[in-house]
Amino acid sequence: MVATGRKETLAARLSAVRERTLRLMDRVPEGLWRERVHGFYSPIGWHFGHIGRTEEHWVQVAALGREPFDAGLSFLYEDRPDNPKDNRTTVPMPDACRAYLEETRRRVLASLWDADLDSPDPLVQDGYGWEFALLHECQHQETIVELLCLLARSASPSSPEPARAEDDGGVEAEFVPIPGHRFTMGSSEAAAYDNEREPHEAEVEGFELAATPVTVSEWRRFIGEGGYLRAELWSPEGWAWREAEAAERPFYWLADRGREFGPDGVRTLDGREPVQGVSWFEAEAYARWVGARLPTEVEWEAAWAYAGAEGAFGQDPLHPSPLPPGPGLRAMRGGVWEWCASPFLPYQGFRAFPYDGYSKDHMKGAHRVCRGGSWATSPLIARRTFRNWYVPGYRQGFLGLRLARG
Ligand code: AVJ
Ligand code: FE
Repeated sequence: MVATGRKETLAARLSAVRERTLRLMDRVPEGLWRERVHGFYSPIGWHFGHIGRTEEHWVQVAALGREPFDAGLSFLYEDRPDNPKDNRTTVPMPDACRAYLEETRRRVLASLWDADLDSPDPLVQDGYGWEFALLHECQHQETIVELLCLLARSASPSSPEPARAEDDGGVEAEFVPIPGHRFTMGSSEAAAYDNEREPHEAEVEGFELAATPVTVSEWRRFIGEGGYLRAELWSPEGWAWREAEAAERPFYWLADRGREFGPDGVRTLDGREPVQGVSWFEAEAYARWVGARLPTEVEWEAAWAYAGAEGAFGQDPLHPSPLPPGPGLRAMRGGVWEWCASPFLPYQGFRAFPYDGYSKDHMKGAHRVCRGGSWATSPLIARRTFRNWYVPGYRQGFLGLRLARG
């Protein structure tokens, strides 16, 4: 009875996540399905099939030793070096992709009903393979939203520029004191990724963390005061990056600083939204400009553990919202991913699972951690211990920052 309840809960969560994937699919114009809008990304249509391939692979092929439904598509939808992104422009169009998703999901659910969730197989025990599928689908949904924004940005409609946006008095940095303390960092929950394990004692000294992420309005002031022109605000690597990219504003912003490219075209920025589309280098320069710094990853998680955290998921899963007012730490999830000072490294006791390419291959010190989860992240995966990571020059994501000091 208990086991049936667990399975039903898992199946219901999988269906809820799939609903959102299918809604996102409906938003993609067929003409853009196979377009390579940016060198770093596969065509948007690839991501949908990759979701189906990945879940079928871990719970059917890897766990049960069965043949995949369609070996050719399994290969095409796998992220592997011998399947370069340029080859992925042949992915099936939406109707065929939808059929592939349906069939792979049918198999994934059939194997769930058959499985013994008390099995010693780590892919099956406590439903790990299905939990992994769910997390993975949520993460690709966010990439799909990024791609919708990138597609809008590359279409670059020439609309008249409105008057330059003035500072409209967004949230001023307000800090919450976090006293020195010890806490348990990381997670061993059934759904935890390999990189969240093992839970361990960690300690922080007293510091202060901003109540909210840095806002659009604050970022406008940074630009207005020459933030992108003053080399002394940037680290040497950061300045070299800025020059190479010719970066002069957040990635999705238009030159008027009043609008940005969103998933359905140009949208008006609200000064009280968290700024997004900034690289780690930009975040670092901003922090230096205000005489603050980025929090370490341990500080970020300690602050949530100590002070509790308000989420900020708005009503609209496709656009950011103004930061909520109120006391305490706000928008620790549901605002933007928040860059931390720390490189992405393994915790004590880390073991790569289910494959090295998920986390381990990225734990060489080149990536920085970001925490919290953005407005485009599913609340199902945005949790205190969740670790995301990118190289410091990456800024196509819904990435912002929260200041620390002390
Ligand atoms: C953790 C978001 C950097 O999208 O490359 C998805 C997540 N890994 N499929 C990525 C991921 C494999 C990953 N990030
Ligand atoms: Fe993936």
